[in-house]
Formats: sequence, structure tokens, C-alpha cells
Amino acid sequence: MSDPLKDAPLISGELKDELLALALEAARRAGELLRDGRPADLGVAATKSSPIDVVTEMDIASEKLITGFLSERRPEDGFLGEEGASAEGSSGVRWVIDPIDGTVNYLYGLPSWAVSIAAQKDGETVVGVVAAPMRGETSHAVLGGGAFLNNAPIRVRPAPPLSQALVGTGFGYIAERRAAQAAVLGSLLPRVRDIRRGGSAAIDLCDVACGRLDAYYERGLNPWDFAAGELIAREAGARTAGRPGEPASHELTVAGSPAVFDALQPLLEDLGAWHD
Ligand code: IPD
Repeated sequence: MSDPLKDAPLISGELKDELLALALEAARRAGELLRDGRPADLGVAATKSSPIDVVTEMDIASEKLITGFLSERRPEDGFLGEEGASAEGSSGVRWVIDPIDGTVNYLYGLPSWAVSIAAQKDGETVVGVVAAPMRGETSHAVLGGGAFLNNAPIRVRPAPPLSQALVGTGFGYIAERRAAQAAVLGSLLPRVRDIRRGGSAAIDLCDVACGRLDAYYERGLNPWDFAAGELIAREAGARTAGRPGEPASHELTVAGSPAVFDALQPLLEDLGAWHD
């Protein structure tokens, strides 16, 4: 049996507080830059996995601001950022950063985009911050300390039966994966209240945390998409995982109010939501 004390990451309350304060300030500054500095003629600077997987100049500027801010204050920390920030570090702390989660929404001027910053200690997420400036909302959580939206505590919604659950999801950027995701969705949609596709995984996870969604799932997420939001959802009382017995990962991420999660995860397994 695992010993919770032995398995807990070796991290002081003081360090958690410091990491949270830095993540909140970095997300605030990046959010302001993105909200106030979005060029009217914003275009695509580059593409990644496919022609619709885009990077804007603002994704790059936001990541630069965040890594510059954090590395000035904690030069020994590591980084993993969506737009290429990558450093090992020597402190045991690694920052996992999505400088704009929901880049396509941002490109089109839709409001659902966020800055997502997680701090991991020895591989475990201990702090998560998701700032969604156009919603005027910042969600945060510290491992073992609960979850908050604009500093007010949040909890998941009491679970309805799966047939009455509102479920968020998202789609990857590769056509073959989308075809498989559409097939899964075709089987799931008749079994739930409805489906939402918001366009930012980080916000979807925060929406589970504060009861705006009963559950969320997606195949193909990267750590920067889900690290902060997963901690926030979990600290708000959600269950989060990947395939049965596995942690959330690129293969599959599932989050939900416990009873909805318990019904949804095995169904997604049966429907093959974890493969293309
Ligand atoms: C994307 C968003 C989207 C999800 C995609 C992600 P990005 O992140 O989170 O909701 O469906 O899988 O890649 O590219 O905007 O940072």
C-alpha cells in the first residue's frame, strides 16, 4: 500500500506560496499583453503539426515574457513551453507553460483563450494557474490546498447521471485523428445531455472545476494544455485520469465530477477514445 506521507512531494508551504505568487504574476502580465497588445491584423506566424495548427507572433511574445519573468526570479528552474521553451534546470522545479491555450480562438477574436502555467516539483504538479483575461477570470490551485476562481473557492457540480451530463471535449489538428474523434463523439452524443467544444482545454478543465461542465475528455493533449487545469479540477473535487489505471496523458485526458467520471471513463475506453 502506498504511504501518502512518503509519496507526497518534498515541498514546503513556503515554496508552494512562492511558486503560486510567481505563476499568478506571470499569467497576469502575459494575459495583459495578449489582451491589450493583440494586433488588429493578427496573422499566422508559423504552423506546427498541420496547416491548421497555428502559432501567432503573440504566442511567441507571451512565452518569452513568461519564461523571462520566471527565469529572472528562479534561474535554477526548468521549463517546458508549447512554443519551444525547454530547459532541464537543477532545482527540481519545472514550469509547464501554454502561452495561449486556445490559439485559434485568439486568432479569430473569440474570447475563450487562456494563459496556463503549472509548476511541477520532481515531476508532480504542485501549482496551477489558468488566466482567461477576456472572461475576467483567473483560476488557481495548490496541491492539497483547494481550487479557486478569482480567489473564491470552487467545487465541481453534484454529478447527474451520465445521460444528463454536459460534457466538454476538443479535437486535434490532424485529419485522421479528427475522423476517429468524430466517430467517438457520434456514439457518445446520444448518451449525454450535450457536448461543448470551447477551444481551450485549460478553460474546459477549469469549467469542470467550477461546475460549468460535468466532465471533459480529449485525446492528444500535451502537458502544457492540461497540467494547470488538471490540478485545478482535481483540487475542486473532480476525478482526473487517462485510460483506466493510467494518469492523464497525450493518449487520453478525462476529468469530471466523480460519478460522471466513473461512468464516462469506461465508456470512452469501450469506444476507443484513446486511439486514432
Ligand atoms: C489546443 C486547445 C484546444 C484543444 C487542442 C489544443 P492550443 O491548444 O486546448 O481546445 O482541443 O487539442 O491543442 O493549440 O490552442 O494551445
